[in-house]
Order: sequence, then C-alpha cells, then structure tokens
Amino acid sequence: MARPQARFVCQQCAAVYPKWTGRCDGCGAWNSLIEELPREELPSGLAKRGSDRRGGRSLGFVGLTGPSTLPPRRETGIAELDRVCGGGFVPGSAILVGGDPGIGKSTLLLQAAAAVAPGSGPSSGRPGTAAYITGEEAVDQVRLRAERLGVADSPMLLATASNVRDIIASLDREGAPELVVVDSIQTMYLDTLDSAPGTVSQVRAAAQELIRLAKRRGFVLVLVGHVTKEGVIAGPRVLEHMVDTVLYFEGERGHQFRILRAVKNRFGATDEIGVFEMSDRGLVEVPNPSALFLAGRAAAGAEVTGAAGMGQVSGSAVFAGMEGTRPVLVEVQALVAPAVLGTPRRAVVGWDGTRLAMITAVLDARCGLSVGTNDIYLNIAGGLRIVEPAADLAVAAALVSALTETPVPGDTVVFGEIALSGDVRPVGHTEARLKEAAKLGFAQAWMPIRRGKRREAAVAAGLETSPFDHLSELVERLTPKRSPLGPLSRQPRIGVAS
Ligand code: TYD
Ligand code: MG
Repeated sequence: MARPQARFVCQQCAAVYPKWTGRCDGCGAWNSLIEELPREELPSGLAKRGSDRRGGRSLGFVGLTGPSTLPPRRETGIAELDRVCGGGFVPGSAILVGGDPGIGKSTLLLQAAAAVAPGSGPSSGRPGTAAYITGEEAVDQVRLRAERLGVADSPMLLATASNVRDIIASLDREGAPELVVVDSIQTMYLDTLDSAPGTVSQVRAAAQELIRLAKRRGFVLVLVGHVTKEGVIAGPRVLEHMVDTVLYFEGERGHQFRILRAVKNRFGATDEIGVFEMSDRGLVEVPNPSALFLAGRAAAGAEVTGAAGMGQVSGSAVFAGMEGTRPVLVEVQALVAPAVLGTPRRAVVGWDGTRLAMITAVLDARCGLSVGTNDIYLNIAGGLRIVEPAADLAVAAALVSALTETPVPGDTVVFGEIALSGDVRPVGHTEARLKEAAKLGFAQAWMPIRRGKRREAAVAAGLETSPFDHLSELVERLTPKRSPLGPLSRQPRIGVAS
C-alpha cells in the first residue's frame, strides 16, 4: 500500500495543499502552512460506497412538542462566573476560555475547581469532584498558586498530562469528576496524529476526543485556549464551533479589572459579562462594576467640587450602558487638541474607531462644528470595551465638552444612539439604565426624547431628564453662552463652518 501522502494545512483557515507555499490562497495568511499527515485512510470501500444506505441506522424522528428537561445547572458559587455561563455550568457541556497570556485564566479556573470540588452539588459529600489537568505547569507551580489563593486544602484532583489517551483512560469511568479543567488545549496531543501539539489538526482532534468524553460521562469540560496575536483563539475558529460556550477573558494589563465575556453560549444569553479584580489573593468578584468604574472619578471630583462627589472637568461624560442584562456606568473621556500635523491623529481606547469617525462627521456636517480637523483622543475609563451604539451620545457629549471646555454636569448620565442625520435615537433598557444611575446618586439624564413610558421610567427612578431630539441641541447645551470668543480664543478651531 502506498505511504500516506503528506499534506500541508493552513493553521489559520485549515485549507489543505499538496505542496508548501508561502501564502495561503484561502485566507491570504503568510507562512501559515504546516505539514501534517492525514489522520487515517478511510476504510477502503467507504469512500467508494458514498451515500449508500447499507449499514446505516434509520433515525427516530420526533416532533417539536414533547417533554423537555431544562439542563440542571451546577453553580460554582463564583457568582460572576455563573452569570456569564447563564446561571452555572451545564453538565456534559464544553466551555472554552480564551484570553491573553497572563490575564488570569489558570487562576480563575483553579478557583472554580476549588469551589466545585467539595461537592455541594447533586453528588454532595463526594470528595474530589473537580479535576485540574495542566499541560503547562508543574504540580509544584499549581500547588504554590493554590496556596496563594487560599484553596490549598481543597479536595480537588490535580495532574499534569498532555497525552489525551492518558486523560481519557483516567476519566472514562463511573464517578468521574463533575468538573474537568484542561489547561491548555494547545498543549494536548493525540498520539495517533503525527503533527506537533498546537497545530490545527492536533487541537481539533484533541478537543473532539475530550468533548466526546465529557458528553459520555456527563461532566463539565473547561478548555483553556491560547489567543493568537490577532486576538482569536489559536487553532483557530474550528474550536469555537465545537464547544457549547466560548468565554473570553479580557482586560488591560495596566488595570486590575478583568472582564469575562460570553461570546457564544448554547445554554444562555451572550454578551453577559463578569467583572473581577486581580488581587494578591487571586481574582475577586466585583458585584457592582459601576461603582468600580466610576471610583477614580468620584475621588477626583470630591476635591474639586465637594458636591455629589463628582468632578466638573470638561471632556468627560458618564455613559449609562448595558452589559448583557446588567447596567454598567462608565466614564467616557475625550481630549481634543489642534492638529499639529496635516493629518489629525485619532487614538481610541475601549471603543470603535470607525464609530468615532462617524460621530465627528455628524458633528461637522449637521451641527456646524469642526471637530474633525483636530487631534482626538478618546478613552473609556477602567479598561472596559464598549460595543453598544447607545454610547454615541455620551461620546458626542465628551467630545463637544472637550472642544468647548464646558463640563457636562457631574450629576448627569448620558445615553442615546446618533443617526447620520444627527437625530438622537431611543435605545433599549432605558429603565434599567436610569435605575442604576439613580442608585449611584446621579440626578439627571441626557437621553433620547421621551415618549410616554420613557418619561415614567425616569420619574420612577427619581431622575430629572433632559430629552434630546437632535445632536445640535446637545451642542447648544455645551456651548458657553457669555463670550464665545474670549475663552475660546485659545481653543481648538470651533464653530466656523466655512
Ligand atoms: P494566570 O492565571 O497564570 O494567567 P493565564 O493562565 O491566563 O496565562 O495569571 C497570572 C497572572 O496573575 C500573573 O501575572 C500574576 C497574577 N496573579 C496575581 O496578581 N495574584 C494572584 O493571586 C495570582 C495567582 C496571580
Ligand atoms: Mg495559564
């Protein structure tokens, strides 16, 4: 029989080539082809037989109506983690946790395993109901970390392994642990495959075997996935399709805050976030993120004004946002300075640069400002990344406020979507946003024009509302009335629509 033909597989898009080339024709990636041997030849005849019906079992079709049992959840007791998973882990499901190196994946999962291990769930009292399998660190390293986290006396099982066959041999039995953490999937390999650990085919095959085992034995499988330079889970998207839930662990290195975000969840809502703070004793839950994201601002403001603990600095607006089902208040900061070079600079942290370009264009075209010719720096305080269009109005408020050096009142939250026409559009969850703002001591809301219910919501929350119908009303509100030329003379170019 002929020797199996070597083939070259793109590590980005899994396209297969008979010969090595520098660039993948499929996805355009450079240097992404790696030689891999095919897993096994198809049993002779199967390929030839094709869609033959012999040997297949007929499916037992059922109707849509019928008894359905909601999957019972296994809560970890780490509320922020449970929230992101949609109320706890679902037995028999596979979860992929991705994130930059050093962000805290291993820390979080060791904490989760320790929380599950004592067996407070259905199998209460059984020791060692969580297993932590690491292919990256030595046992001593994990023990040291466990000591630091204060969970060293947890009855969980710990092992170092990277051969999937060994893992399956140890877990494929009655009374398998309830939770199995595999850190990381890139270090695991199947000895039936010739390619090196971490290649697409190894990652895919190893994950497949482990997921199959989890389904068979009904345990929760958590896979740690590395993230490539481009920010996607290495190995590549195929892994995201295979698991039930994909969680991303994100955060800025300079900040202590870590945000766990669900990007896919077959058993719950996506876009839920869990907020943690990295401390010297591991990750600590942050049940009230708004207070945390606004903490610096309140402290700074107290010195300046002493009133309501909020500062009166221009170029800042508090956005009443929603992250999943939870309202989160964050500060949007903007700095506008005359451009020194021909092309104005744009630096955006925590928000979409394209969206910023759109808002400056609307301010220029519909409100007669000339923001676009200036350098613009925009920052979402605290390291949160906002994707909601509802932040448009808050960003515009911060920009205009920076431009005119007129502070947005410190007791005001802002939200609303901006259309290209300059109209301010209503957004969802008004009630929840207003309630959260009221809870944190805000007294005013700048928001899309009120209609019926929205007004009731504001009144119920005890907030005074300033409805906006068009962006120019916001500009008017933030333009100094007295001497437009005096204080503005040392200002960036403004208001002179040519
Ligand atoms: P780790 O969980 O090893 O990251 P990952 O598995 O995602 O690569 O996190 C390591 C980082 O967390 C490291 O920079 C040190 C920090 N850390 C703390 O600040 N406090 C702690 O209690 C622990 C365990 C880690
Ligand atoms: Mg790690």
